[in-house]
Amino acid sequence: MAHRAFIRISVMSQAQLEVMLTAAQIEERIRQMGAQIDADYPNGLYLVGILKGACIFLSDLARSITRPVRIDFIGTSSYGKGKTTSGEVRLTKDLDTTIEGAEVLLVEDIVDTGVTLTYLIHVLEQRRPRSVRIATLLDKPERRLRPVEVAYVGFRIPDKFVVGYGLDYAEQYRNLKDICVLSP
Ligand code: IMP
Repeated sequence: MAHRAFIRISVMSQAQLEVMLTAAQIEERIRQMGAQIDADYPNGLYLVGILKGACIFLSDLARSITRPVRIDFIGTSSYGKGKTTSGEVRLTKDLDTTIEGAEVLLVEDIVDTGVTLTYLIHVLEQRRPRSVRIATLLDKPERRLRPVEVAYVGFRIPDKFVVGYGLDYAEQYRNLKDICVLSP
């Protein structure tokens, strides 16, 4: 028990966190995104959250939408414990339900290289949804390797590694209310 506590304290104190986007800024932007989505999907939509990073964004976005919403999650392999991608994506959790004929909005925490979303759009389109579009809270366009068309972007950010509001580094910091730049 004592050993565990020591590890937690030492990891937290070595990293430097600098707030990039406050909880209030995020809340206001999600309210605007919800209004835009309401206008674009009068008959409702199917939100598909990408695990695990998008879970907090999805839960706030879903509540800012007043149209009928269905929710499911899909999981992909991610960065693991580092900050760079392997360039390979695989499904770690599939959807629980069919999306055939549905208006799907893929909900992502951050678009970085675009590799994950390129793969997921390809996977989901084969299931014949009526439409598939993307909503992301953050976009780092400088790092793009694959072009992806993103319908809703919360914030465009510079090429910095960020944590908080669902985003992690080695599974830490997801519960921060603000989005912060993590420096080693
Ligand atoms: P992409 O396939 O390179 O676009 O990577 C997207 C995924 O990489 C996101 O869903 C995040 O899990 C992760 N990622 C990319 N940039 C960051 C970051 O700055 N902080 C935390 N995770 C990140």
